[in-house]
Amino acid sequence: MLCLRSESSPLWAEAALRDLDGFLIDHAHCEMKAASNALSLSARYPNEMDLVRALAELAGEELSHFRRVLEVMTERGLVLGSPPVDGYAAALRTASAGLKGKHLERWVLVDRLLIGAVIEARSCERFKLLLPHLPKVAPELTAFYEELFACEAKHFCTYVELAKLAAREFAGEVDGRLEMLAEFEAGILLQHAVPAARVHG
Ligand SMILES: [Fe+2]
Ligand SMILES: [Fe+2]
Repeated sequence: MLCLRSESSPLWAEAALRDLDGFLIDHAHCEMKAASNALSLSARYPNEMDLVRALAELAGEELSHFRRVLEVMTERGLVLGSPPVDGYAAALRTASAGLKGKHLERWVLVDRLLIGAVIEARSCERFKLLLPHLPKVAPELTAFYEELFACEAKHFCTYVELAKLAAREFAGEVDGRLEMLAEFEAGILLQHAVPAARVHG
């Protein structure tokens, strides 16, 4: 799906639905991180106005997702708490360090954008896996996750487009780089033998 090179275990949806409260808490943290990552990227490249504008819009949407997950959590009496350890995104960043040209500032930006794309793609895949079960388990969440599925797919496209813009004359290399990152991501997921109630990992 999208750029992904592996499918999540069918047991993943079972794990998420078994601990829906835990999943919602992890999801809230993911949305918060998505917003802050987009803002921190725009702060790092303040002279690239196309990038800054696109990331500001994306951050606004992620913040709105965060607030809406918080509303759901409030209705269920849940507390956000400290973020769980996020080995997934860290492992992706570490894996990307092995890509060629990494010493060039341009590729640092391109790879950060592509990591964003891969993370969005995995969110989409996971939301899609949940969707058939939600009408039975938590019907009040079905429309919300349908909307998020579409929105995170749009974010995937935005990140890939931004990566191509950022790569400038090397835009033709971006698809191949995305494939390599997606391979790394598939390998990272293999290390999580027991599916957990988390959006990633
Ligand atoms: Fe989101
Ligand atoms: Fe997103």
